[in-house]
Amino acid sequence: MTEYRMQGPVGARTLINDRECDYFSGTGYLGLQNHPQVLAAAAQCLNRYGLSTATSRGGYGEHPVFDQLTREVCGFFGRDGLLSFPSGYMGMSVLAQGLKLDYDQIFVDDESHFSILDAARLSGKPVQLFRHLDAGALRECMYASIKARERALILSDGVFPISGEICPLLDYLKVLDEFAGVIALDDAHAVGVLGENGRGVQDFWKVNDERVWSSATLSKALGGYGGVICETKQRTAHVAAFTKVLSGASPISLPVAAASAQALRLARTQTQLRERLWENVRFMRAGLRNLGWTMVDSPIPILCLPWRDGLDLAIIQESLFQQNICVAHVRNYSSTPPGGAIRIAVFSTHSQPQMERLLGALAAFS
Ligand SMILES: Cc1ncc(COP(=O)(O)O)c(C=O)c1O
Repeated sequence: MTEYRMQGPVGARTLINDRECDYFSGTGYLGLQNHPQVLAAAAQCLNRYGLSTATSRGGYGEHPVFDQLTREVCGFFGRDGLLSFPSGYMGMSVLAQGLKLDYDQIFVDDESHFSILDAARLSGKPVQLFRHLDAGALRECMYASIKARERALILSDGVFPISGEICPLLDYLKVLDEFAGVIALDDAHAVGVLGENGRGVQDFWKVNDERVWSSATLSKALGGYGGVICETKQRTAHVAAFTKVLSGASPISLPVAAASAQALRLARTQTQLRERLWENVRFMRAGLRNLGWTMVDSPIPILCLPWRDGLDLAIIQESLFQQNICVAHVRNYSSTPPGGAIRIAVFSTHSQPQMERLLGALAAFS
């Protein structure tokens, strides 16, 4: 099996194993990671402040660059409270700990991301898994487990990283109408790409409900790095009271915070990035449909080609790579369909000829 090594910056075109490739993998959906303004913000900050990793937020660790990041994250999400931490992976653990007085049992979509399963297990509360995306199964599971006066915490990905499916939040809220409790979503793959303002799953379903909480990452569509929970100040204070990550972990380094702030500003103000992404997604989904793949209409830039009898996914990946095109053959990441899948990530920065080349190469396997 070929081992792939990226030797160039992440982007629609990059160098892998000494080849200039069309890159359709990873999560840089808006192409912000290497935007010149993002790199300039990081470089200026590095020159002025260095890496500044060896201090925590408490004591002397607060900094104007973190204030700037807070303003940009809050501006993007339209809220005034922020919790930020070194990795999006921690987000669901922060919520599961921070909301601990608000629930007694946890109900988890059984295809949830590893970070969600870890968060559920580490909470110390009873955990039940329910069938993937199935509100009926969730309801049954809750009726079977919840005792009088107990409250639920429902956990799910907002968008699933390999299948690209969107969590049926409205259906889950209807189930929650019959019980007491809250929902927390890992919106890592939804922020930046989903909803009118790119704020994620709640924006997409037009939900404004205080039972819903989300965590997100800056390290995918939003072009930076770090985990965030952006809510009203009152709600972030509620969560912060019961979690130690905020004081116990080093924050993201200042140059990365500066880059993230700049990338967020671009994601908020340059709405054409998202429109271009959605256009590319429409084009690719229509193209794959023409090749005989089942594709739902969805703005999600994750296109999943599931294994089926007679299809060798490893050969597809290798053959595309020989044509200088990179897609991911995924075997065991959360939300991977049985037998594996080819995961194609679409960016706003992919050009029409790049997408046509990919469709042309896939035609041989359709
Ligand atoms: C659904 C999901 N949540 C969380 C994470 C972790 O986010 P981060 O890379 O910011 O730690 C990932 C992948 O990186 C993911 O796919």
